[in-house]
Amino acid sequence: MPETPLRSRTEIALHVNGQIRRLSIDPRTTLLDALRDHLGLTGAKKGCDHGQCGACTLMVDGRRILSCLTLGVLVDGASIVTIEGLSSRDGGLHPVQQAFIDCDAFQCGYCTPGQILSAIACIQEGHAGSDAAIREYMSGNLCRCAAYPNIVAAVRSARDRSEGDHAPISV
Ligand code: FES
Ligand code: FES
Repeated sequence: MPETPLRSRTEIALHVNGQIRRLSIDPRTTLLDALRDHLGLTGAKKGCDHGQCGACTLMVDGRRILSCLTLGVLVDGASIVTIEGLSSRDGGLHPVQQAFIDCDAFQCGYCTPGQILSAIACIQEGHAGSDAAIREYMSGNLCRCAAYPNIVAAVRSARDRSEGDHAPISV
């Protein structure tokens, strides 16, 4: 059987923030590295690179995933939303981004892109009904600055505003 070249490359196409991006990557490349190193989208952060901190959280086909644990080739053709894709065309912030500002829900900001993507998913999933539920369903996103009370307040605020405005949270 012929040997597979160690450095073979694979062509993939990702729908990133509404645009088709074609890439030629080593098949071992994670989605996080594909976005950061090949597309220059550095909003998703590399914290642990081992699935333990949540800094790399993204939305893939409407679900939150850890991009450091996801190979780029496995999401070929998928729709991906990163923090760069959340604001509106006129530059207006996404309601959850605004809630994080209003509630002072960050300090250094390193975990914040992942927190915001996870918060959107938490609300969409219906897991933001109480502070306890928010803490539970946001528990995969660590914050070394310990801004947790304000993060919970931001998720609660975004949830309440979307319910009051009858405007479901979406990406
Ligand atoms: Fe992916 Fe920490 S960088 S979970
Ligand atoms: Fe610094 Fe969360 S704001 S790690």
